[in-house]
Amino acid sequence: MTEGDGSGRDTAIGDRPTIDPPRWFVEQANISDPAVYETFEQEWPDCWDRAADLLDWDEPYDDVFRGGDDPPFEWFPGGRLNASYNCIDRHLPERKNQLALIWEGHLDESRTYTYRELHREVNAVAAALREQGIEEDDVVTIYLPMVPELPIVMLACVRLGVVHNVVFAGFSADALAERMERTGSELLVTCDGYYRRGSAVAQKNKADNARIAVEQDVSVVVLDILNRDVHLGEGYYDYDTLRAAHDGETVDPVPRDASDTLFRIYTSGTTGEPKAVDHTTGGYLAHVAWTAESVLDIKPEDTYWCSADIGWITGHSYIVYGPLALGTTAVLYNGTPDHPEKDRVWEIVERYAVDVFYTAPTAVRTFMKWGEEYPDSHDLSSLRLLGTVGEPIDERAWRWYREHIGGGECPVVDTWWQTETGAILVSTLPGVDAMKPGAAGKPLPGIETDVVDPAGESVEVDEAGELVVTRPWPGMPSDLRTGEGWGEAATFGDEWRYYPEDGASVDGDGYVTVLGRVDDAINVAGRRFSTMELESAITGVTGVAEAAVVGASHETAGTALYAYVSPEDGYTETDLRGRIESAVRDAIGGVATPETVVFTPDLPKTRSGKVMRRLLTAVANGEELGDTSALRNPEILGELQSATPER
Ligand code: WT7
Repeated sequence: MTEGDGSGRDTAIGDRPTIDPPRWFVEQANISDPAVYETFEQEWPDCWDRAADLLDWDEPYDDVFRGGDDPPFEWFPGGRLNASYNCIDRHLPERKNQLALIWEGHLDESRTYTYRELHREVNAVAAALREQGIEEDDVVTIYLPMVPELPIVMLACVRLGVVHNVVFAGFSADALAERMERTGSELLVTCDGYYRRGSAVAQKNKADNARIAVEQDVSVVVLDILNRDVHLGEGYYDYDTLRAAHDGETVDPVPRDASDTLFRIYTSGTTGEPKAVDHTTGGYLAHVAWTAESVLDIKPEDTYWCSADIGWITGHSYIVYGPLALGTTAVLYNGTPDHPEKDRVWEIVERYAVDVFYTAPTAVRTFMKWGEEYPDSHDLSSLRLLGTVGEPIDERAWRWYREHIGGGECPVVDTWWQTETGAILVSTLPGVDAMKPGAAGKPLPGIETDVVDPAGESVEVDEAGELVVTRPWPGMPSDLRTGEGWGEAATFGDEWRYYPEDGASVDGDGYVTVLGRVDDAINVAGRRFSTMELESAITGVTGVAEAAVVGASHETAGTALYAYVSPEDGYTETDLRGRIESAVRDAIGGVATPETVVFTPDLPKTRSGKVMRRLLTAVANGEELGDTSALRNPEILGELQSATPER
């Protein structure tokens, strides 16, 4: 079954119906020549020239790629460039008065920045940071909500060759302290507070606590958002005062080696500790610019909106670096999709005539639940392309998205990647490939993946296994490049591989369907949480003997966190429930609060005393339990089932 445009193909491939991109889209697409796959294959690694050519280099690179079968790998060695220059200065001759950023806050606040204005802001802040004694290769931590100053400070850092370490604003003081301490960061940029769903978040209090908790001395720059005359003590500086003192100054962009770190970001690793991921200036920037061009089809004249938070990698790569490197207009939204009404997102799309919209499957499922009357009441005809990222999107949500947001016409790209990959690795190319709702797509040109069994051998077509990336890619982080501490990569025979720890299958056309995590991380609404980190927060509460956290399927979030807790003797549910919730909030942040906490006298355990998570997952999902013969305490299962709320 083929839908759409009659561009000729009408064959069903495999089990999944395919949908060709409409002809009007292909005709205007940045990349529409199907030969791109073959060219990249034949010319690898030099094919990546094409990505690097999207950037301006201060010093040309000697080679595209240097490396053998194993790390160290080097992308664009010899090349020097500055990311702030690439995202701002070089656009000035052609589009100084074009908008770079459109910021939409709550209560109808909005602000815009042309490229010229962005240049002025970034230079003033860079001059202020320099005066604070911040130098090339220092790490500055940024702890701000979705305000224009967040990308401005990021770009000011990279202008100086300073590494930014953005911590999601919703994280707790403990989570912030851990990330600051581990980077040795001595400057923190934060704000007094901000509004979230109508209530004020005391951001500076969290920052104060983190500052006390770390070993190093930390200076703090505070952006005044709430206008409440907050007292700033010793070591604190007012953002607006610093900025104003340097307004009009310019700072030369510092050329960086292609392999120099552009920024650091933390992700939930398998060991439970947040894992530092360092992305490079050359390879990363080339890769995000190229995928913003080829997958998101961004043009300079577009208005582009990615609804993620800049605090996560999605926002780094596809709100800030990719789109601004291409010189487009990016929308930044600080608010929730249902305030003041459930049509907020569509109202913004209509008002700014957004061309390309990129969001998470959980958001699509939420919009679907609210009903089509909300998008239907707006003119969404400006939209040309839709994208998703963060978790698998099922066929029904995919079709709803295309039909009700994309007017039945827009191509939809389901883009697979992760914090570690830096940029998209698997997706359809919307100007080239047929789409298969439910499958992400083929590995992009120049990217090679496979699906393997536990022995590392390729599985058969359509069989489930583990996804592996079998070739280096430009956006790879430093530890994978250098081979230092490359936890999830391994050689197999003579072959280097990166294991993203996702389950997948691949069909006869090479389309990859991603099935979910294989490690003990849980993906909730497109955010990855480590079960170990959650469990240690819960077991840290006095009175909790043991805890296990599992994921249960959830209508809109995709997966919800279920915590199974067994209290010590003498403690009751009433004593513990509130303290468990606040322990998780303190350790990680409100985003990680379990949806359900089930109290149980014991957890299901094997004879060797290991908690059987598989059974807890089945109980949480209300599923058949399967083989329980390995259990030491089978009698607990009935109790667990009745204590778990019905789904
Ligand atoms: C994990 C990475 C990259 C930005 C968002 C999250 C899952 C991501 C898809 C997709 C199926 C996906 C994977 C991946 N994931 N995109 N299109 N289809 N699963 O970044 O926190 O590093 O999480 O998100 O499980 O490994 P992250």
